[in-house]
Amino acid sequence: ARLVVLISGTGRNLQALIDAQALGQLGAEIVHVVSNRPGVQGLDRAAAAGIATTVVDHKHFASRDDFDAALAEVIEASRPDIVVLAGFMRILTPAFIRRFEGRLLNIHPSLLPKYRGLHTHRRALEAGDPWHGASIHFVTEELDGGPVVLQGRINVGSTDTPETLARRVMEEIELNIYPLAVRWMADRRLQWRDGQAWMDGDPL
Ligand code: GRF
Repeated sequence: ARLVVLISGTGRNLQALIDAQALGQLGAEIVHVVSNRPGVQGLDRAAAAGIATTVVDHKHFASRDDFDAALAEVIEASRPDIVVLAGFMRILTPAFIRRFEGRLLNIHPSLLPKYRGLHTHRRALEAGDPWHGASIHFVTEELDGGPVVLQGRINVGSTDTPETLARRVMEEIELNIYPLAVRWMADRRLQWRDGQAWMDGDPL
């Protein structure tokens, strides 16, 4: 399967996908990495792995529609079977999401449906949650609201801060679950049919 990865920054999740591919564990080939921000570390990680990169800088577009149309063209040119958002920090338009419906996954650092949006680690701490984690979900028009396909959780410790939680969720959960979800998509165990998500033949 052909995989396109969208990033905005550090690219630790991208690196996990690159590493899984190198180990033959991804079941997919990362054919293109696209960033909406120039000069970010994720672009260096892609280049070091010999993966084609493109920057589509949202600041160069007058509207969200124009940006998303340009972004969609760049992605479509790579003929992806799967498109993953890996720390991609732009809200996508309904037109974009419809165009890639069923091929688009996101990772979100919370136990969805809890804490859509930003500052998830701080919000989980403030709520006194005993558990926190990260989720992979299909992207639908509802922000962080599409069907969850995979989730990992850790215990919140009494000494955790938003910073330690962010690091633990990243290292213990995120870096492990994204390669797995991509593999499920590549193996067609995870599918999108008739407007909904299916895993091993059962609706999610
Ligand atoms: C991750 O926590 C991801 O869940 C998110 O932004 C962060 C991206 O980090 N929404 P990286 O770019 O993969 O290092």
